[in-house]
Amino acid sequence: MSVLITGGRVVTASDDYVGDIFIEDERITLLGASLDVQADRVIDASGKLVFPGGIDPHTHMEMPFGGTVTCDDFTSGTVSAAFGGTTTHVDFCLQAKGQSFPDALETWHEKVRRTPPVIDVGFHMAITDLEEGGTLEDLARLPEEGVTSYKLFLAYKGAIMVDDETMYRTLEVAAATGALVMVHAENGDAIDVLVKRALAEGHTEPKYHASTRPPLTEAEATARAVTLARLAGAPMYIVHVSCQAAIDPVARARHAGWATWGETCTQYLFIDESYLARPDFEGAKYVFTPPARTKEEQDNLWAALANGSLSAVSSDHAPFKWQGQKTLGKDDFSKIPNGAPGIENRLHMLYHHGVRTGRISLNRFVELTSTSAAKLFGLYPRKGTIAVGSDGDLVIWDPEKPLTLSAETHHSNIDYNLFEGEEVIGAPETVILRGNVIVDGDELVAQPGVGRFVKRARFGEGPLPA
Ligand code: URP
Ligand code: ZN
Ligand code: ZN
Repeated sequence: MSVLITGGRVVTASDDYVGDIFIEDERITLLGASLDVQADRVIDASGKLVFPGGIDPHTHMEMPFGGTVTCDDFTSGTVSAAFGGTTTHVDFCLQAKGQSFPDALETWHEKVRRTPPVIDVGFHMAITDLEEGGTLEDLARLPEEGVTSYKLFLAYKGAIMVDDETMYRTLEVAAATGALVMVHAENGDAIDVLVKRALAEGHTEPKYHASTRPPLTEAEATARAVTLARLAGAPMYIVHVSCQAAIDPVARARHAGWATWGETCTQYLFIDESYLARPDFEGAKYVFTPPARTKEEQDNLWAALANGSLSAVSSDHAPFKWQGQKTLGKDDFSKIPNGAPGIENRLHMLYHHGVRTGRISLNRFVELTSTSAAKLFGLYPRKGTIAVGSDGDLVIWDPEKPLTLSAETHHSNIDYNLFEGEEVIGAPETVILRGNVIVDGDELVAQPGVGRFVKRARFGEGPLPA
């Protein structure tokens, strides 16, 4: 099967030119002007932008959490991703307490087999237990399975939170094996005190989720994670950075030349804390962690994305239905499952509000939504760019296509959309995974199973983002 894409404006993190792309046997084999080749299918991309497929490095498909399970599996979640221009995601394989790492990995592979994806999938290992189930030896073997990143939660006390000893031991293994450590950075102990006090005072509504997780709890844990990573000689990636107080330790470490990176997520750029106060329990839709902050923090995040303090934008897709799942916390905000949907609208929102407004360049858009993640998570140059030898993962993007974001039309199983009613301009026209057209206009044209598990290279084997 071969595909020729003609006359599009090809944009990568570093290039911007009009040209043709030829994909044969899943990989890009030719790039150039007016290529003279025969192809099984020719797609005219004139007037369109052509990006490398989006890479979302932070998703939670069918994950047990907060007394329930996220409502997208690998089929529904990746169909949703594909319609938004994302062709690879890296999901968190969550070790259950007492479970070994090989068992946890098999549990996640089984989910993928049972609900086959339409985009490519990688796994991070989320470590919750190094005492009963997980051993350091098994942890060290994960990179051989293509799992080259470990995740630690410094929050969610009494559930999946780990202590500093677990973090430090993991960091030492990562330094030895070539894995990147990802940290959910909030001080879970301090938050636990604040949450219990709020509840004791009768403060049960969703808005107290935000007020009990103030920026300094995020700042402290971020500084701690970054510092311990330096001590262990391990690379560090802080997930879902939400505020300036947490940007600061990341930026300081990066300025000092430490192997430190940070991401934010789409929702932190657009949802502010006032959403949690919406009446009739609607605020629960916006309960994710760290919480939505002030509008001023949104400007801080945009500045950090523009100046390089933060390196990627993920979705942290962790969908829980409003009806029946979020309602678990109807009388107690601490029981609302934490998380929000977002895998489908990440590129839409960043393009419309970032590129079209001039906040970020087109090249930076590609870097933030694809290339940086590919480099950090061992996928580059196979993915995250448009080059001879790379996988034929492409988004043909119509820069003038209007779209109204809504739960009525999105493809996730979830019953609400974070950006309901938002009118954006710019959306995928065609999405291609390893030379297979998976989305054509408004149609899904691929069968589940076209997506595959991707073994990722060890950290630092390829180039890293600046
Ligand atoms: O609220 C969130 N972010 N839920 C998903 C789990 C996590 O902390 O990433
Ligand atoms: Zn988290
Ligand atoms: Zn997450």
